[in-house]
Amino acid sequence: MSDYIRNAWYVAAWTKDIGRQLVSRRILGEPIVFYRREDGAPVALEDSCPHKLAPLSVGELVGDEVQCGYHGMTFNCSGACTRVPGQTKVPPSAKVRSYPLVERYNAVWIWMGDAALADPDAIVDVPRYGESGWGVVDGQYLHFPTHYLNITDNLVDPAHTTYVHKKTIGGAGGEDVGVKVEQGDRQVLAYRWIKDDEPVPLFKKMGNFSGPVNRWQYYYLFMPSVSCVDFGGIDAELEPVEENKDRGLRSYSFNFLTPETESTTHYFWLHVRNYHADDAKVDAEVVELMTLTFTEDLDILELVQKEQERTGIRERTRLGIDNAPARIRRMVERLVAAEQGQTEGPRDDAQGVA
Ligand code: FES
Ligand SMILES: [Fe+2]
Repeated sequence: MSDYIRNAWYVAAWTKDIGRQLVSRRILGEPIVFYRREDGAPVALEDSCPHKLAPLSVGELVGDEVQCGYHGMTFNCSGACTRVPGQTKVPPSAKVRSYPLVERYNAVWIWMGDAALADPDAIVDVPRYGESGWGVVDGQYLHFPTHYLNITDNLVDPAHTTYVHKKTIGGAGGEDVGVKVEQGDRQVLAYRWIKDDEPVPLFKKMGNFSGPVNRWQYYYLFMPSVSCVDFGGIDAELEPVEENKDRGLRSYSFNFLTPETESTTHYFWLHVRNYHADDAKVDAEVVELMTLTFTEDLDILELVQKEQERTGIRERTRLGIDNAPARIRRMVERLVAAEQGQTEGPRDDAQGVA
């Protein structure tokens, strides 16, 4: 049984990457071909011809239709076959699946489950995106050679930053400050305030703090696999509460994880900030720092994946810091089981490969 949630929106690509060429991408294990119609609307079809299973992506785009590169069967953007060279009758089985798409936040979102349930309102909200005074870096992508739940584990786990991110965002400060965890129906939040602390290097560089700060790290994980890190700092004289966060330096770092296979993940990310909003140099610095930071995660998670595959075990010991990651895995199991119509409870998630 795979642990993919199908009835959900996933980022399939950045808007800029889908055009009038056929682009092949595997999502939740399924090969999909993407392109744009002549009127600009994006299309996603099963990338497998029903005849001899040739990938349609190696065929040709003819107007708004895709022509198979093997024997020329042609499919329209809803996946129906419109032409079979050499015969007039189109067999009823001559069709491919088409997938609902929505474009938002400069990204193309795909719905992998029951198309009747595809509600665009269910796409996660990115606060401040496009608002004046807030800068955006988007269009970023990394390919992670690890199971997507290893990444969600990592993205609600502040404890690793001290060790994995020594060269980038890590620091010993706050090491002993506990993390609180809250859980909703389809989200988990791990958070902490580090009070009356010296401004971290980023705050010194980008802000104008004259004294100590209260800083926060809020790690949200929205089902199925969208991570948002709300991060920032305010003057230590200001009360450390949600209402005061916009009075300081603040950023939202969004990571959209789209499972590619059971052992690889598409990692799309964007970043919204309220400092130096229109400064292209700061944009470039954000890209460089975040790419370096995420690559540090990638390096350790690739090794974790290999060891999980070698042993068939995901973890042998559970620690206190695994509270939020374990909640996410249980939530995913519950949703996957509900989609698959199963009634048994979650398996012991201390066992087995992710
Ligand atoms: S494999 Fe596509 S038409 Fe034959
Ligand atoms: Fe990390």
